[in-house]
Parts: sequence; structure tokens; C-alpha cells
Amino acid sequence: MKKHQATKWSAIALGTALAAGLLSACGAAGATPEPSKSAQQQTNGGQDSETKSENPFADSAMQATVEEKDGKNVVTNPTSMQVVVNKQRYLPDGYEPSDLVVPNVPFSFGGVIEKSHMRKEAADALEQLFAGAKEQGIDLYAVSGYRSYKRQKSIYDNNVATRGEAEAAKVSAAPGTSEHQTGLAMDVSALSVNNELEQSFGDTKEGQWLADHAQEYGFIVHYLKGKEEQTGYSYEPWHIRYVGKDLAKAVHDSGLSLDEYLDESNLSAAK
Ligand code: DAL
Ligand code: ZN
Repeated sequence: MKKHQATKWSAIALGTALAAGLLSACGAAGATPEPSKSAQQQTNGGQDSETKSENPFADSAMQATVEEKDGKNVVTNPTSMQVVVNKQRYLPDGYEPSDLVVPNVPFSFGGVIEKSHMRKEAADALEQLFAGAKEQGIDLYAVSGYRSYKRQKSIYDNNVATRGEAEAAKVSAAPGTSEHQTGLAMDVSALSVNNELEQSFGDTKEGQWLADHAQEYGFIVHYLKGKEEQTGYSYEPWHIRYVGKDLAKAVHDSGLSLDEYLDESNLSAAK
């Protein structure tokens, strides 16, 4: 599997350039222009205190982690646990994680295939989550993890053929934009719904446990009920995405979707 490494420094440089651009744009329109980022850096010894001190996730802000390539917005931090991909934010062409493993959890199917995998850190966290659930008498099953671009394309094309493009787009990510391609997502279900991926899973004790506790293990339930407009997808109580414990708790407590939370304006408002 090919390895793609966007360096932290290039992401920071891009973020700083974008932030400086935004500030200068505001300054041009406003009555009292704010000092430029580089001017601020000169007065504080190069410390980027504005973004660093406000919120620990500032480096992962949506605006700081994207660049335009061939007419598409492509994420600059595909290997980050905090990467945001969505309908407007593509993974780089050919992206494949380099550290895929099979988590030691019960699966809804037999054998080891592509969708059995997750990235190592996410797989370890999934094992903890399943063990924590088990201690509370909750039996979860892993249904679908990593998907290559090719596999996502086949699923998406099949959805378009059977439902039409508009309906397909509500339930299936276009190839290059799925969290499953990051290796950080797992669809989870339970025997109470025959391990199906259906919205009634959200009403089961297993689905409710997941909604209430996933963040304690570093996961968010990304596609929430009532957030369809913001996420672009129908409610998916089964789809959990690893982002790390701190960000998962912050997103869960905010009541915002991941994408909303990592918007620069919401990050600077969050304490
Ligand atoms: N079902 C989710 C949105 C995906 O295809 O990635
Ligand atoms: Zn999913």
C-alpha cells in the first residue's frame, strides 16, 4: 500500500497563509484593519499564539487543512486522526493508509477481507470500546471498516444505479470522500437488528449505548439525526469515526457535527 505523508509543517504553513489571507480580506472590508499574522509573529517572537492558545484543535481547522487541486478541495492532512473528509473535501488521489490492521472484535461476517481493517490507533480504540460495551452487557458487532477508493466507487455507483444520484448521495459518499477510506471509520450493529445497518439501530440499547459512550473511547457518531443538512448525509447511528478522545469529547459536548466543530469560527468560540 502506498504511503502519503502531508507534513505538519506544510499544513501549518498553508493554514497560516489562509488565515493571513482571511485577515487581510477582513481588513480590506472593515474600518479597522487587524494586524497581519506575520506582524503579530514579529512581536511575539514567532509564536503563533493566536491560533495555538485559543483551541488545541486549531491546527486541524477545516480552513487550515485543505488546498485546491485540479478544481477539487483536497485535504492536506489525510493521515491525521482529525482529518475531515466530506462532500467538499477529498482525500488525495490514490490515498491508502499504511497501518491497517484487523481489530480483535466480533464481526458480523466470517473471514478477513478489506472491510475488516482499520488504522492501528483506531483499531486499538475500537477494541477498548467493544470491551467497555461488553462490561455493560452490550454486545456489538463490527460490520464494515476500511474501504479502498475502488470499493467505495463500486458501492457508490451501485447506489446511483439503483436509487438515482440524489438519493444515493444521501447515504453513500462519492469515491475519494468517504471516511471509510481513511481507515478511521467502522459501521457497528447488533443482533437486535440482525446486524443490519438501519436507522432503528439508534433506538436499540446497543445504539443508545454507542451514542452515549463512543466519545469516551475516541469515537463520534458522525451522521446525527437533525444534522442532515450540515453533514450532507442521512442519520447513520451505526457509523462511528475515530478522532481521538479529546476531540471526540469536545465534539460530543458541543452538540455540533465534527465538520461544524472544526470550522474556524466555532473553534475560536469554543473554550
Ligand atoms: N455511508 C457513508 C456516508 C459513506 O459512504 O462513507
Ligand atoms: Zn459508515
